[in-house]
Amino acid sequence: MTSAAPPKIDLRSDTVTMPDPEMRAAMAAAEVGDDVLDHDPTMARLEERVAELVGLPASLWVPSGTMGNLIALMLHLRRGDRFLAPEHAHVLGSELGTAAWIANGMPEALPHDAGPGRPTPDTVRRVAGGAGPYYTLTTRLLCLENSHNFSGGAVIPQDEWTALGAAARDSGLLVHLDGARIWNAAVALDVSPSALAAGADTVQVCLSKGLGAPVGSVLASDADRIAEARRIRKMLGGGVRQGGVLAAAGLVAVGSIDRLADDHANATRLAAGLRELGFDALEPDTNIVLVDLPNPVAAATRLAALGIGASVTAGKLRFVTHRDASAGDIETVLRAIADDPTVLAVEVGAR
Ligand SMILES: Cc1ncc(COP(=O)(O)O)c(C=O)c1O
Repeated sequence: MTSAAPPKIDLRSDTVTMPDPEMRAAMAAAEVGDDVLDHDPTMARLEERVAELVGLPASLWVPSGTMGNLIALMLHLRRGDRFLAPEHAHVLGSELGTAAWIANGMPEALPHDAGPGRPTPDTVRRVAGGAGPYYTLTTRLLCLENSHNFSGGAVIPQDEWTALGAAARDSGLLVHLDGARIWNAAVALDVSPSALAAGADTVQVCLSKGLGAPVGSVLASDADRIAEARRIRKMLGGGVRQGGVLAAAGLVAVGSIDRLADDHANATRLAAGLRELGFDALEPDTNIVLVDLPNPVAAATRLAALGIGASVTAGKLRFVTHRDASAGDIETVLRAIADDPTVLAVEVGAR
Protein backbone atom coordinates (compact mmCIF):
# COMPACT_ATOMS: atom_id res chain seq x y z
CA MET A 1 0.00 0.00 0.00
CA THR A 2 1.32 3.48 -0.83
CA SER A 3 0.51 6.48 1.28
CA ALA A 4 -0.03 9.98 -0.09
CA ALA A 5 2.48 12.67 0.90
CA PRO A 6 1.00 15.15 3.38
CA PRO A 7 -0.01 18.53 1.95
CA LYS A 8 2.71 21.24 2.01
CA ILE A 9 0.51 23.43 4.15
CA ASP A 10 -1.49 21.02 6.22
CA LEU A 11 -4.55 22.58 7.83
CA ARG A 12 -6.58 19.37 8.02
CA SER A 13 -6.16 19.26 11.79
CA ASP A 14 -3.96 20.38 14.67
CA THR A 15 -3.20 16.68 15.19
CA VAL A 16 -0.67 16.89 12.33
CA THR A 17 1.74 18.86 14.55
CA MET A 18 5.17 17.29 14.91
CA PRO A 19 7.21 16.94 18.10
CA ASP A 20 9.79 19.73 18.01
CA PRO A 21 13.50 19.37 18.93
CA GLU A 22 12.87 20.42 22.56
CA MET A 23 10.19 17.75 22.89
CA ARG A 24 12.34 15.07 21.25
CA ALA A 25 15.24 15.94 23.56
CA ALA A 26 12.97 15.68 26.61
CA MET A 27 11.68 12.31 25.39
CA ALA A 28 15.23 11.02 24.89
CA ALA A 29 16.27 12.13 28.37
CA ALA A 30 13.11 10.98 30.22
CA GLU A 31 13.49 9.08 33.45
CA VAL A 32 11.31 5.99 33.09
CA GLY A 33 9.90 3.01 35.00
CA ASP A 34 7.23 0.40 34.36
CA ASP A 35 3.97 2.31 34.49
CA VAL A 36 1.84 -0.84 34.44
CA LEU A 37 3.71 -2.42 37.37
CA ASP A 38 4.44 0.41 39.75
CA HIS A 39 4.25 3.76 37.99
CA ASP A 40 6.72 5.57 35.79
CA PRO A 41 8.18 8.70 37.46
CA THR A 42 7.76 10.97 34.43
CA MET A 43 4.18 9.77 33.93
CA ALA A 44 3.56 10.55 37.60
CA ARG A 45 4.94 14.07 37.12
CA LEU A 46 2.77 14.68 34.06
CA GLU A 47 -0.35 13.36 35.80
CA GLU A 48 0.28 15.61 38.80
CA ARG A 49 0.84 18.62 36.57
CA VAL A 50 -2.29 18.09 34.48
CA ALA A 51 -4.44 17.45 37.57
CA GLU A 52 -3.19 20.77 38.91
CA LEU A 53 -3.86 22.56 35.59
CA VAL A 54 -7.47 21.38 35.44
CA GLY A 55 -8.04 21.74 39.18
CA LEU A 56 -8.92 18.12 40.00
CA PRO A 57 -7.25 15.90 42.61
CA ALA A 58 -5.90 13.12 40.35
CA SER A 59 -5.35 12.17 36.74
CA LEU A 60 -4.32 9.34 34.45
CA TRP A 61 -2.44 9.41 31.14
CA VAL A 62 -4.23 7.58 28.33
CA PRO A 63 -3.08 6.99 24.75
CA SER A 64 -5.86 9.00 23.09
CA GLY A 65 -8.73 11.38 23.64
CA THR A 66 -11.10 8.69 22.47
CA MET A 67 -9.90 6.35 25.21
CA GLY A 68 -10.09 9.14 27.81
CA ASN A 69 -13.71 9.88 26.89
CA LEU A 70 -14.59 6.20 26.79
CA ILE A 71 -13.11 5.51 30.23
CA ALA A 72 -15.00 8.50 31.65
CA LEU A 73 -18.26 7.24 30.20
CA MET A 74 -17.54 3.72 31.47
CA LEU A 75 -16.99 5.17 34.94
CA HIS A 76 -20.30 7.02 34.85
CA LEU A 77 -22.78 4.91 32.88
CA ARG A 78 -24.61 1.64 33.41
CA ARG A 79 -26.92 -0.31 31.12
CA GLY A 80 -30.25 1.50 30.88
CA ASP A 81 -28.60 4.92 31.23
CA ARG A 82 -28.81 7.83 28.88
CA PHE A 83 -26.30 10.63 28.45
CA LEU A 84 -26.74 14.07 26.94
CA ALA A 85 -24.26 15.82 24.65
CA PRO A 86 -24.50 18.72 22.22
CA GLU A 87 -25.17 17.79 18.58
CA HIS A 88 -22.03 16.85 16.65
CA ALA A 89 -20.08 16.24 19.86
CA HIS A 90 -17.02 14.08 19.28
CA VAL A 91 -18.38 11.41 21.68
CA LEU A 92 -21.57 11.20 19.65
CA GLY A 93 -20.35 10.88 16.10
CA SER A 94 -16.59 10.43 15.96
CA GLU A 95 -15.75 7.64 18.39
CA LEU A 96 -17.44 4.80 16.53
CA GLY A 97 -20.33 4.60 18.96
CA THR A 98 -18.18 3.31 21.82
CA ALA A 99 -20.23 5.45 24.22
CA ALA A 100 -23.14 3.13 23.44
CA TRP A 101 -21.63 -0.25 22.73
CA ILE A 102 -18.84 -0.30 25.31
CA ALA A 103 -19.93 2.27 27.92
CA ASN A 104 -23.63 1.29 27.70
CA GLY A 105 -24.93 4.83 27.23
CA MET A 106 -27.94 5.71 25.12
CA PRO A 107 -26.98 9.06 23.56
CA GLU A 108 -29.29 12.05 23.31
CA ALA A 109 -28.09 14.99 21.22
CA LEU A 110 -28.91 18.46 22.52
CA PRO A 111 -29.53 21.46 20.25
CA HIS A 112 -27.03 24.32 20.18
CA ASP A 113 -29.66 26.74 21.40
CA ALA A 114 -27.30 28.83 23.55
CA GLY A 115 -24.80 29.35 20.72
CA PRO A 116 -22.46 27.20 18.62
CA GLY A 117 -21.58 23.97 20.44
CA ARG A 118 -23.68 24.46 23.54
CA PRO A 119 -27.23 24.00 24.86
CA THR A 120 -28.96 26.30 27.30
CA PRO A 121 -29.29 25.26 30.96
CA ASP A 122 -33.08 25.15 30.43
CA THR A 123 -32.62 22.61 27.65
CA VAL A 124 -30.47 20.46 29.92
CA ARG A 125 -33.18 20.59 32.63
CA ARG A 126 -35.99 19.91 30.18
CA VAL A 127 -34.32 16.99 28.39
CA ALA A 128 -32.97 15.45 31.60
CA GLY A 129 -36.53 15.38 32.92
CA GLY A 130 -37.08 13.56 36.16
CA ALA A 131 -37.45 9.98 37.23
CA GLY A 132 -40.00 8.25 34.96
CA PRO A 133 -41.70 4.84 35.11
CA TYR A 134 -39.39 1.87 35.66
CA TYR A 135 -39.06 1.15 31.93
CA THR A 136 -37.63 4.58 31.04
CA LEU A 137 -33.96 5.36 30.71
CA THR A 138 -32.15 6.97 33.62
CA THR A 139 -30.48 10.15 32.45
CA ARG A 140 -27.11 10.01 34.18
CA LEU A 141 -24.62 12.32 32.50
CA LEU A 142 -24.10 15.59 30.67
CA CYS A 143 -21.08 15.52 28.39
CA LEU A 144 -19.90 18.92 27.15
CA GLU A 145 -17.08 19.79 24.74
CA ASN A 146 -14.95 22.93 25.14
CA SER A 147 -13.92 24.01 22.57
CA HIS A 148 -16.49 22.30 20.33
CA ASN A 149 -14.61 20.91 17.35
CA PHE A 150 -17.41 20.57 14.80
CA SER A 151 -18.79 24.02 15.68
CA GLY A 152 -15.55 25.59 14.52
CA GLY A 153 -13.71 25.44 17.86
CA ALA A 154 -16.50 27.43 19.54
CA VAL A 155 -15.94 28.03 23.25
CA ILE A 156 -18.29 27.73 26.22
CA PRO A 157 -17.79 30.94 28.22
CA GLN A 158 -17.15 30.42 31.91
CA ASP A 159 -20.50 31.80 33.13
CA GLU A 160 -22.38 29.50 30.76
CA TRP A 161 -20.26 26.55 31.86
CA THR A 162 -21.14 27.31 35.48
CA ALA A 163 -24.85 27.59 34.66
CA LEU A 164 -24.80 24.36 32.64
CA GLY A 165 -23.07 22.56 35.51
CA ALA A 166 -25.70 23.85 37.94
CA ALA A 167 -28.50 22.70 35.62
CA ALA A 168 -26.90 19.27 35.41
CA ARG A 169 -26.53 18.97 39.16
CA ASP A 170 -30.11 20.18 39.77
CA SER A 171 -31.21 17.41 37.41
CA GLY A 172 -29.12 14.77 39.19
CA LEU A 173 -26.60 14.47 36.33
CA LEU A 174 -22.88 13.92 36.46
CA VAL A 175 -20.74 16.10 34.17
CA HIS A 176 -17.95 15.00 31.85
CA LEU A 177 -15.96 17.61 29.96
CA ASP A 178 -14.36 16.60 26.69
CA GLY A 179 -11.59 19.18 26.91
CA ALA A 180 -9.57 17.91 23.97
CA ARG A 181 -8.94 21.61 23.22
CA ILE A 182 -9.58 23.10 26.67
CA TRP A 183 -6.20 24.82 26.28
CA ASN A 184 -7.48 26.74 23.26
CA ALA A 185 -10.68 27.68 25.06
CA ALA A 186 -8.73 28.90 28.11
CA VAL A 187 -6.39 31.03 25.99
CA ALA A 188 -9.27 32.46 23.95
CA LEU A 189 -11.28 33.34 27.06
CA ASP A 190 -8.22 34.41 29.04
CA VAL A 191 -9.09 32.19 32.00
CA SER A 192 -7.34 29.17 33.50
CA PRO A 193 -8.18 25.64 32.31
CA SER A 194 -9.23 24.91 35.90
CA ALA A 195 -11.87 27.66 35.72
CA LEU A 196 -13.32 25.99 32.62
CA ALA A 197 -13.33 22.58 34.28
CA ALA A 198 -14.68 23.66 37.69
CA GLY A 199 -17.42 21.35 38.93
CA ALA A 200 -16.83 18.61 36.35
CA ASP A 201 -16.74 15.04 37.61
CA THR A 202 -14.30 14.00 34.90
CA VAL A 203 -12.27 15.95 32.35
CA GLN A 204 -10.41 14.63 29.33
CA VAL A 205 -7.67 16.81 27.83
CA CYS A 206 -5.49 16.16 24.76
CA LEU A 207 -1.75 16.71 24.54
CA SER A 208 -1.52 15.63 20.92
CA LYS A 209 -3.45 18.41 19.20
CA GLY A 210 -2.40 22.07 19.27
CA LEU A 211 0.16 21.40 22.01
CA GLY A 212 2.14 19.20 19.65
CA ALA A 213 2.83 15.99 21.61
CA PRO A 214 2.98 12.94 19.35
CA VAL A 215 0.58 10.97 21.56
CA GLY A 216 -1.44 11.20 24.72
CA SER A 217 -4.41 12.55 26.60
CA VAL A 218 -5.10 12.78 30.30
CA LEU A 219 -8.27 11.94 32.21
CA ALA A 220 -8.70 13.85 35.47
CA SER A 221 -11.12 13.27 38.34
CA ASP A 222 -11.07 12.38 42.04
CA ALA A 223 -8.65 9.75 43.37
CA ASP A 224 -11.21 6.93 43.60
CA ARG A 225 -12.41 7.37 40.03
CA ILE A 226 -8.85 7.60 38.75
CA ALA A 227 -7.96 4.34 40.56
CA GLU A 228 -10.88 2.69 38.79
CA ALA A 229 -9.94 4.43 35.50
CA ARG A 230 -6.50 2.82 35.80
CA ARG A 231 -8.15 -0.63 35.90
CA ILE A 232 -10.38 0.20 32.93
CA ARG A 233 -7.40 1.55 30.95
CA LYS A 234 -5.66 -1.79 31.48
CA MET A 235 -8.80 -3.63 30.41
CA LEU A 236 -8.84 -1.63 27.18
CA GLY A 237 -5.17 -2.33 26.50
CA GLY A 238 -4.11 1.24 27.22
CA GLY A 239 -1.51 0.59 29.92
CA VAL A 240 2.00 1.31 28.66
CA ARG A 241 5.28 0.31 30.23
CA GLN A 242 8.07 2.92 29.99
CA GLY A 243 5.49 5.60 29.26
CA GLY A 244 7.74 8.35 30.59
CA VAL A 245 9.13 8.72 27.08
CA LEU A 246 5.64 9.82 26.03
CA ALA A 247 4.86 11.73 29.22
CA ALA A 248 8.03 13.80 28.75
CA ALA A 249 6.56 15.08 25.49
CA GLY A 250 3.35 15.86 27.37
CA LEU A 251 5.22 17.90 29.98
CA VAL A 252 6.82 20.01 27.25
CA ALA A 253 3.40 20.30 25.58
CA VAL A 254 1.66 21.71 28.66
CA GLY A 255 4.47 24.24 28.97
CA SER A 256 3.48 25.75 25.63
CA ILE A 257 -0.18 26.60 26.16
CA ASP A 258 0.24 30.36 25.79
CA ARG A 259 1.51 30.12 22.23
CA LEU A 260 -1.92 28.88 21.08
CA ALA A 261 -2.78 32.59 20.84
CA ASP A 262 -0.70 32.66 17.63
CA ASP A 263 -2.84 29.88 16.13
CA HIS A 264 -5.98 31.81 17.05
CA ALA A 265 -4.61 34.96 15.39
CA ASN A 266 -3.83 32.93 12.25
CA ALA A 267 -7.35 31.48 12.23
CA THR A 268 -8.87 34.95 12.59
CA ARG A 269 -6.72 36.21 9.70
CA LEU A 270 -7.66 33.24 7.52
CA ALA A 271 -11.38 33.71 8.16
CA ALA A 272 -11.17 37.47 7.50
CA GLY A 273 -9.21 36.87 4.26
CA LEU A 274 -11.74 34.32 3.07
CA ARG A 275 -14.60 36.69 3.79
CA GLU A 276 -12.80 39.44 1.83
CA LEU A 277 -12.73 36.98 -1.07
CA GLY A 278 -16.49 36.58 -0.74
CA PHE A 279 -16.64 33.25 1.10
CA ASP A 280 -18.87 32.51 4.06
CA ALA A 281 -16.23 31.84 6.73
CA LEU A 282 -17.39 31.87 10.34
CA GLU A 283 -15.51 34.12 12.74
CA PRO A 284 -13.47 31.64 14.84
CA ASP A 285 -13.28 31.72 18.64
CA THR A 286 -10.07 29.64 18.57
CA ASN A 287 -8.09 27.76 15.88
CA ILE A 288 -10.77 26.24 13.64
CA VAL A 289 -12.25 27.99 10.61
CA LEU A 290 -15.42 26.59 9.03
CA VAL A 291 -16.44 27.72 5.57
CA ASP A 292 -19.93 27.18 4.24
CA LEU A 293 -19.61 26.09 0.59
CA PRO A 294 -21.93 24.37 -1.88
CA ASN A 295 -19.46 21.51 -2.40
CA PRO A 296 -16.91 21.31 0.42
CA VAL A 297 -15.70 17.82 -0.55
CA ALA A 298 -14.68 18.96 -4.05
CA ALA A 299 -13.14 22.13 -2.60
CA ALA A 300 -10.96 20.03 -0.27
CA THR A 301 -9.87 17.87 -3.21
CA ARG A 302 -8.94 20.93 -5.28
CA LEU A 303 -7.04 22.49 -2.40
CA ALA A 304 -5.14 19.24 -1.93
CA ALA A 305 -4.03 19.44 -5.56
CA LEU A 306 -2.48 22.83 -4.65
CA GLY A 307 -0.67 21.33 -1.67
CA ILE A 308 -3.12 22.76 0.88
CA GLY A 309 -4.76 20.40 3.36
CA ALA A 310 -8.29 21.08 4.60
CA SER A 311 -11.00 18.68 5.75
CA VAL A 312 -14.78 18.45 5.70
CA THR A 313 -16.60 18.58 8.99
CA ALA A 314 -20.35 18.76 9.63
CA GLY A 315 -20.91 19.62 5.95
CA LYS A 316 -18.44 22.52 5.95
CA LEU A 317 -14.87 22.98 4.79
CA ARG A 318 -12.62 23.08 7.86
CA PHE A 319 -9.17 24.64 8.26
CA VAL A 320 -7.36 24.12 11.57
CA THR A 321 -4.41 26.37 12.42
CA HIS A 322 -1.52 25.10 14.53
CA ARG A 323 2.13 25.55 15.50
CA ASP A 324 3.45 24.02 12.27
CA ALA A 325 1.56 26.47 10.02
CA SER A 326 2.99 30.00 10.10
CA ALA A 327 1.33 33.35 9.45
CA GLY A 328 3.18 33.27 6.11
CA ASP A 329 1.53 29.93 5.29
CA ILE A 330 -1.88 31.47 5.91
CA GLU A 331 -1.05 34.28 3.45
CA THR A 332 0.07 31.64 0.91
CA VAL A 333 -3.28 29.85 1.28
CA LEU A 334 -5.21 33.10 0.83
CA ARG A 335 -3.15 34.05 -2.24
CA ALA A 336 -3.74 30.63 -3.83
CA ILE A 337 -7.50 31.02 -3.34
CA ALA A 338 -7.46 34.64 -4.53
CA ASP A 339 -5.58 33.56 -7.68
CA ASP A 340 -8.25 30.98 -8.44
CA PRO A 341 -11.45 31.34 -6.38
CA THR A 342 -13.02 28.44 -8.31
CA VAL A 343 -10.93 26.20 -6.05
CA LEU A 344 -13.53 26.81 -3.35
CA ALA A 345 -16.49 27.87 -5.47
CA VAL A 346 -17.28 24.41 -6.80
CA GLU A 347 -20.90 23.74 -7.79
CA VAL A 348 -22.85 20.91 -6.20
CA GLY A 349 -22.31 17.74 -8.23
CA ALA A 350 -18.95 18.89 -9.72
CA ARG A 351 -15.74 17.09 -8.74
C1 LIG B 1 -13.28 17.24 20.74
C2 LIG B 1 -12.50 15.98 20.57
N1 LIG B 1 -12.59 15.02 21.49
C3 LIG B 1 -11.91 13.88 21.40
C4 LIG B 1 -11.05 13.66 20.35
C5 LIG B 1 -10.34 12.34 20.26
O1 LIG B 1 -8.97 12.43 20.40
P1 LIG B 1 -8.03 11.28 19.79
O2 LIG B 1 -7.90 11.58 18.34
O3 LIG B 1 -6.74 11.49 20.53
O4 LIG B 1 -8.66 9.98 20.07
C6 LIG B 1 -10.92 14.63 19.36
C7 LIG B 1 -10.01 14.41 18.21
O5 LIG B 1 -9.96 15.19 17.28
C8 LIG B 1 -11.66 15.82 19.47
O6 LIG B 1 -11.59 16.79 18.55
